Amino acid sequence: MKQEYRQIATVPKPFVKWAGGKRQLIPILNENLPKSFGTYYEPFIGGGALLFHILTERNGQKCSISDLNSDLVLTYTTIRDKIDGLISSLKNHERNYQKDSKTYYYSVRESNPRSEIEKTSRLLFMNRTCFNGLYRVNSKGKFNVPLGRYTNPNIVNEENLRSVSAILNTSKVAIKCRDFESVLRDAKKGDLVYFDPPYQPVSDTANFTSYTNKSFTFDDLHRLAELCLKLDSKGCKVLLSNSDSKDVAKIFSEKPWKINKIQANRSINSNSKKRTGHFELLIKNY
Ligand SMILES: C[S@@+](CC[C@H](N)C(=O)[O-])C[C@H]1O[C@@H](n2cnc3c(N)ncnc32)[C@H](O)[C@@H]1O
Repeated sequence: MKQEYRQIATVPKPFVKWAGGKRQLIPILNENLPKSFGTYYEPFIGGGALLFHILTERNGQKCSISDLNSDLVLTYTTIRDKIDGLISSLKNHERNYQKDSKTYYYSVRESNPRSEIEKTSRLLFMNRTCFNGLYRVNSKGKFNVPLGRYTNPNIVNEENLRSVSAILNTSKVAIKCRDFESVLRDAKKGDLVYFDPPYQPVSDTANFTSYTNKSFTFDDLHRLAELCLKLDSKGCKVLLSNSDSKDVAKIFSEKPWKINKIQANRSINSNSKKRTGHFELLIKNY
């Protein structure tokens, strides 16, 4: 029993709660992976649920992950390179939070640390203690989520962080901060590229503005669709997740794309009544 617990506990899992995280969809994503592929690319890495699954299941798998959010990318490299310092900084946050959670949370939210360790531990601390575990910044790039209502948040989660650090150190994982389109330069025939972009809003209204999202516009979706076609002509295997949106279905309606409608559950929604099952699209060229 003890051994079983140890085995399960050391499997690396996403270390941040991230909007659009794919943990609940791992079984269906796994079923939809090609049997074999070269390098695994994930250009919208977020919490990296599928990455950790692949690293755990496929020993020695070469991976290349990236994201445009530099704070998030720094978190991956700091966990890989400076795990001891990071754990002690997080323990410090935990101690201070336990003394006076509200005052401490807002003082950390206002802070702007310089060192990589302090920047990373601030992000992880806020992610564990803020309202609904959301990462949201205002137009000036400042984190602006209020304190969440947790009685005993797991601020340090040392075992998982060490296990993530170990797998990033022992596996061949390139980590970059860049726009998704740069993947075209690197991916080669036989490689797998999994795209999990910010989702297109699903809307029945004809209001064009509802199709834009601050970080990912309708133009970005078209840019992504063109990139997918270029990767297809290079001989890459392409897998893409998105919302069950008419626009997405239309853009990917022709060859070589195959669209699967899958059932999903989302837990990040401030209104718990809206956290119900819904459909998403899984699109692939193989
Ligand atoms: C839906 S989330 C990915 C979720 C991830 N699959 C998971 O399991 O947690 C989308 C990610 O895309 C990133 N992103 C947004 N615009 C981007 C761009 N132009 N290029 C690269 N990444 C971008 C965001 O920072 C965010 O981390």
